[in-house]
Amino acid sequence: MTPKVIALAGKGGTGKTTTTALLIKYLLQKKLTPVLAVDADANANLNELLQLEVGATIGQIRKELKGDLPPGMTRDQFMNMKIQQAIIEESGFDLLVMGQPDGPGCYCSANQYLAMTMDHLAANYRYILVDNEAGMEHLSRMNLRVIDYLLIVSDPSARGILTARRIAEITGPLGLTVKNRYLIVNRAPEPMSAELDAKIKEAVQESDLPLGGIFPSSEDLIKQEIIGGSYLKLGDDVPVVQAAFAAFDRIFM
Ligand SMILES: Nc1ncnc2c1ncn2[C@@H]1O[C@H](COP(=O)(O)OP(=O)(O)OP(=O)(O)O)[C@@H](O)[C@H]1O
Ligand SMILES: [Mg+2]
Repeated sequence: MTPKVIALAGKGGTGKTTTTALLIKYLLQKKLTPVLAVDADANANLNELLQLEVGATIGQIRKELKGDLPPGMTRDQFMNMKIQQAIIEESGFDLLVMGQPDGPGCYCSANQYLAMTMDHLAANYRYILVDNEAGMEHLSRMNLRVIDYLLIVSDPSARGILTARRIAEITGPLGLTVKNRYLIVNRAPEPMSAELDAKIKEAVQESDLPLGGIFPSSEDLIKQEIIGGSYLKLGDDVPVVQAAFAAFDRIFM
């Protein structure tokens, strides 16, 4: 199976992790499984929105690879075993947390093992979602060089949308092939004035990125985060869920 790779990008705090969580919910509901969600942010928090405990991260495994291996095990086997242990298995999807990047003096060939292991692992999934921090370096580290869908999340401002355009362009130097790009405008005021709506559409046109969707600012999300409930348990009638699902229908169907 060749998985479809969906990567999330955007400036800090725009809603990448939120969008990733909503997308997991969508894919589960549409039975487009199995899904691998990769939290590629050094300050991992996708697990919090999903109410999952994180065990080992790839960053920790990479450190362990520097030390002595169990007798009779190659680094390859060790990495494989560790990654299997680090994967959090849920119904319909798995979560893998990248954790801290290499510090100085890294055992850099660990990245090669990681890339090889990812190649094997990837074949088990229908979709791989990568919640990135701004840089997106983890993608090449994981050997994910072809991105089927890059979703760039922006706040609802003209400047934010122009920044999204620049972020869309940094995939070039990283050597990534991006098949489809979409802009997601998040936290739009609700209700939105016709004037702001027109301004957003104007900025979107200038950005040259197709508009995937506009997600409303949502008290339900804030409430869910405060009470510590999983985003996967949000009701289907919640407006931000409806907006997100309609956008994903347009993008992926
Ligand atoms: N549509 C929305 N309505 C209300 N709150 C939102 C919405 N989208 C995101 N938020 C809130 O904004 C904050 C930042 O969102 P999120 O963590 O998804 O952004 P991010 O882009 O992943 O941030 P980072 O760059 O830190 O990883 C969170 O507290 C989240 O609950
Ligand atoms: Mg995030």
